[in-house]
Amino acid sequence: MRIVILGSGRGSNARAILEAQRAGRLGRARVVQLFSDRPEAGLLALGAEFAVPAAYLDPAPFKTKLEGEGEARYIAAITACTPDLIVLAGFMRVIKPGFLTAFAGKVINLHPSLLPSFPGLDGIGQAWRRGVKITGCTVHYVTPEVDGGPIIDQAAVRVEPGDTLETLTAKVHATEHALLPAVIARLSGG
Ligand code: GAR
Repeated sequence: MRIVILGSGRGSNARAILEAQRAGRLGRARVVQLFSDRPEAGLLALGAEFAVPAAYLDPAPFKTKLEGEGEARYIAAITACTPDLIVLAGFMRVIKPGFLTAFAGKVINLHPSLLPSFPGLDGIGQAWRRGVKITGCTVHYVTPEVDGGPIIDQAAVRVEPGDTLETLTAKVHATEHALLPAVIARLSGG
């Protein structure tokens, strides 16, 4: 199973996937390409570390969505990778139907809350401010509805009395780092 990872930031979840692959915990999946819509993304440095091609792909002309010329560039570059699965690991752009049609049923996303609660930006902060006692993370198939596609799996995190937004954020991230590689391994049939 050939995996392409898209991300915009630190890349800690891409790292978790690559470390799982290195440790033989990614089933039949293997990462063949990393792409970022931000040239400064930490994710891109993982390419050299894990010997996987990594590249910035210009998402212009839009700021928060992937559509038009940028979408066409992503579709062409990803198609050339012949992926079986496209993993959005902190890719902070709205994905439009053109992209989803090109890769039907192959795009999954990680979100830092127990969907359908707290979709959109800052899922951890939204849950913290709302005062929930259990939050977590979700891996789901991507559909045109933002964070609304079929849920593949979730992991829960309890908000303890001593928690701060910072400690809760660290706990949710640690949970993501376990959940996402496990889901990929399962989807690969390995
Ligand atoms: C993760 O917490 C992921 O759930 C979130 O971005 C972070 C990326 O971190 N994604 C979203 O909020 C998508 N709506 P990373 O770059 O360290 O993997």
